[in-house]
Amino acid sequence: MDVETINRVGVIGAGTMGSGIAQVAATHGYDVVMRDIEQEFVENGFETIDDSLGRLVSNETLTEDEAAAVRDRITGTTELEDLADCDLVVEAALEDLDIKRDIFGDLDEIAADDAVLATNTSTLSITSIAAATERPESVVGLHFMNPVPVMPGVEIVVGEQTDPELVDVAHEFAEDLEKTTWESDDKPGFVTNRILMPWINEGIRAFDEGVATKEDIDAGMELGTNVPMGPLTLADHIGLDICLHATETLHEELGDRYKPAYLLKRKVEAGELGKKTGSGFYEYD
Ligand code: CAA
Repeated sequence: MDVETINRVGVIGAGTMGSGIAQVAATHGYDVVMRDIEQEFVENGFETIDDSLGRLVSNETLTEDEAAAVRDRITGTTELEDLADCDLVVEAALEDLDIKRDIFGDLDEIAADDAVLATNTSTLSITSIAAATERPESVVGLHFMNPVPVMPGVEIVVGEQTDPELVDVAHEFAEDLEKTTWESDDKPGFVTNRILMPWINEGIRAFDEGVATKEDIDAGMELGTNVPMGPLTLADHIGLDICLHATETLHEELGDRYKPAYLLKRKVEAGELGKKTGSGFYEYD
């Protein structure tokens, strides 16, 4: 298994994430088939791509010709069967486990035996999605960040049965799209949303409980902790529905996250207080 053998990429779902993934893959020379269940959704996906490519042309990241070539490399369809000759398929459908499992069950029937089957899920279990197929070793998480054409990172999520070679291919594929990767085990929310969502949730709670105005909560985090965007502004960018859905999934899976972490207590007891003691979560000279 090798990233060199990937030429044709299938994307399931033409929404914000799916169209972004299709665009970025096509920008890096892959032939892309973008599938959604209705023609109208496919057309909306192309509109999102055209808008994004337009921005990249106006800020001189791409030339007009390059943008046109990207567009030509993407085919739209409503038929899942049209993904049969794809070497890698990324599913970016609704964030609903039953829907994703249905899709993977169908994909298992039609995808090539050696195809990489990836899901862009942001919080759901890769292992559970993979279990809907007869080839769970071929399923991996490729979690792109929104907006896909702009954000520099991709989270690679390793399911219980994911083939380690496939994990390498997933890293190489994302790197070929000029993204930097990090890896997460298949635990709820992975790295990003497990940490980001409680942070956003606490920002919302602080506002609701009258700790400060929304502007001051965002300013406190931006100016006080050097994040580019405070929790309320970022929640607005992500979409509050997406934040709620992700937080509900984490709540179901992880319960009360707000007690001091056991590891935090253990580190303090051990005197590993961070930079000032030369050791915390990292080591310092
Ligand atoms: N396609 C192409 N270019 C785009 C674009 C897109 N979709 N969106 C923005 N851009 C470009 C703009 O054209 C602009 O380029 P120039 O500066 O050269 O003109 C640049 O990006 C900045 O855009 P804007 O000035 O319009 O907007 P902004 O200042 O808000 O910046 C952003 C855009 C960098 C994406 C910023 O909004 C941001 O950081 N958003 C939050 C991103 C984020 O944290 N994403 C992760 C969310 S969590 C997640 O995705 C995980 C999950 O599972 C929920």
